[in-house]
Formats: sequence, structure tokens, C-alpha cells
Amino acid sequence: APEQQPVAIPPNTKALITAGPTYEAIDPVRFIGNFSTGKMGIALAEALAERGIPVDLVLGPSKESTQHPLITTHKVVSAREMYDACERLFPEAAISILSAAVADFRPQEAAAEKIKKGSEDTMQLTLVKNPDILAHLGAIKNAGQTVVGFALETNNELEHALKKLKAKNADMIVLNSLQEAGAGFGHDTNKVTLLSADGTQTALPLQSKKEIAKSIVDCVLALKYNNA
Ligand code: CTP
Ligand code: CA
Repeated sequence: APEQQPVAIPPNTKALITAGPTYEAIDPVRFIGNFSTGKMGIALAEALAERGIPVDLVLGPSKESTQHPLITTHKVVSAREMYDACERLFPEAAISILSAAVADFRPQEAAAEKIKKGSEDTMQLTLVKNPDILAHLGAIKNAGQTVVGFALETNNELEHALKKLKAKNADMIVLNSLQEAGAGFGHDTNKVTLLSADGTQTALPLQSKKEIAKSIVDCVLALKYNNA
């Protein structure tokens, strides 16, 4: 990691974090979800709070939680609920870090009653695309707002992540390397590379999610308040 100089954080700086999975209802008792635990996002919220920055944490279904007094947790279930919460909270946020594993699609309609298995051997579910929260915030951000996203890739990772950085108008993408043993979903360690819109790339060593979160926050604060 690069040398970190102390940064002066302006008063009244607030942050927005998304974390965890989203659940998309199929019927009253079933959903489409993923294995995200929310640990990375909670660690990011805590790292920001440790720097004295109040955080709105928009958290999908997760058994993890945080008690930090500077963190306000907004629990949501679906991608659309997460989108609505972010839209409401974003105007206040100088820094937004979107670490949630948002379901890309949801069932076109959630059945009102439990779906019966019936006599057919196959069943079809029609899915529709969810709104992209990162792309939306990237599109509406003002000059004082920094928006950071994540990218989870299994192949051509750098190329895909750089595409996301551009397409979503993000200031930084945290590229999650699944190829490394001990990195990614369900693990307590991660290996990430930070890709900034200014072209800099910073590869962080394999570290605990807590340490990674601290490094990401240090880099974002340095990028935002150290330049010029
Ligand atoms: N993201 C989001 N809203 C969505 C989908 C993704 O805010 N509906 C955010 C994630 O929180 C993450 C970034 O976009 O910060 C990239 O997510 P990822 O799943 O890696 O990329 P996608 O754009 O969804 O593309 P794909 O899944 O096809 O790789
Ligand atoms: Ca996705």
C-alpha cells in the first residue's frame, strides 16, 4: 500500500455504504439471493466511522450488524428497496461506497400465494433486470461527491473492472480477486486491487476484511482530500 499522509476531512462529511445481498421474492416463502455476508460493507462503514465520519449503512438481509454510534443502519430486502434508500440518502453523502451484492434480476412478479410444484418436471421463471444503483449514483453525482463501486470477476478481471469504472462513472472500483485462495464470499480475507478514474492502480496484499476496509477508506480519503 502507498504511504498514507494524514488527510484533513472537512466537517459535516457523511458517507453512504451499501452492503450484503438482496433477496428478490418469488412467492411469500421463496426468494432469489446470493451468498454475500455483508462483512466487507460493515467493515467499510466501521473504518469510516473510526475516522469520525457518520455513515448511513444500507444493509440487505445479513446476520451481521454493527453497534458503532456513528453508523445508522437502514435494513432493506430487495434491490428496489436498496435503490430507494440510496436515492433518499445520497444527497447527504460526500463519499458513497457500494459494496452490496445486488441481485441483477428479480422475478417479474412475486406470486401472491405459495407456488405449487404441480406435475411438470421443469418450471420457468421470468426475470426482469433490477436498477443499477452504482450506475445511477454515478450519473447523478455532483463534483463534491465521490462514488466507489466493487467488481467481482472470475475472468479478464482487469478489463471487466475498468469497463465498469467507465460505464458507471465511478471514481474508483475495488476489484475483488476470486482467483486468490482465501478471497471473496464467505471468507474472512480478501485480495483487492483499487482502480481509480485517474488511472492509478493499487494492489493491496491479502488481508483481513477489516484491514482491507481500512486501506480502501485511506485510499478514498487520500484521493478525495489530498489531491491538488
Ligand atoms: N451494483 C449496483 N446495483 C446493481 C448491480 C450492481 O449498485 N443492480 C453495484 C455493486 O454494488 C458493485 C458494482 O455495481 O459495486 C458492480 O457489481 P457487479 O455485480 O460486479 O457488476 P454488474 O454491473 O452487475 O455486472 P455483472 O454482474 O454482469 O458482472
Ligand atoms: Ca451483478
